[in-house]
Amino acid sequence: MSTLNLNVNGQIHSVNVSDNGMPLLWVLRDLIGLTGTKYGCGIEVCGACTVLVDGQREHSCVFDVGSAVGKKVVTIEGLSPDCSHPAQKAWIANQVPQCGYCQPGMVMTVAGAMNAGHHGSEIASEVKNLCVCGTYQRIKQAVAGL
Ligand code: FES
Ligand code: FES
Repeated sequence: MSTLNLNVNGQIHSVNVSDNGMPLLWVLRDLIGLTGTKYGCGIEVCGACTVLVDGQREHSCVFDVGSAVGKKVVTIEGLSPDCSHPAQKAWIANQVPQCGYCQPGMVMTVAGAMNAGHHGSEIASEVKNLCVCGTYQRIKQAVAGL
């Protein structure tokens, strides 16, 4: 076991992790208690586990927690204090979610694309996340104005 200090949503968390490459997603959900980030496939296909690491999109299901040390991790809980991030506002305005399971990953994917300086249809083409409820049309509408 190793003790790591992680900056998550602007707070430092000391976590005890196994030495054999624990994924960041397990640490966020099970050790820190931030359950907004979801587990879907575990193999970088669905995008449900997407978080930002130093502003860039990462699939936390395969991201070695050790690689997050010294970086800033942002989860859906930390994207804004009051759902005021433009992506969150667009999601609310367009009533995007259905069951909601995939949505934190969707929003974080869009936030990462915005951080990269992308807009509108450019972002829409980058959102490859899976949604079994089929919210794709509303996602397209939501990102159109970003
Ligand atoms: S759970 Fe990470 S991409 Fe599906
Ligand atoms: S809103 Fe249900 S899986 Fe996407």
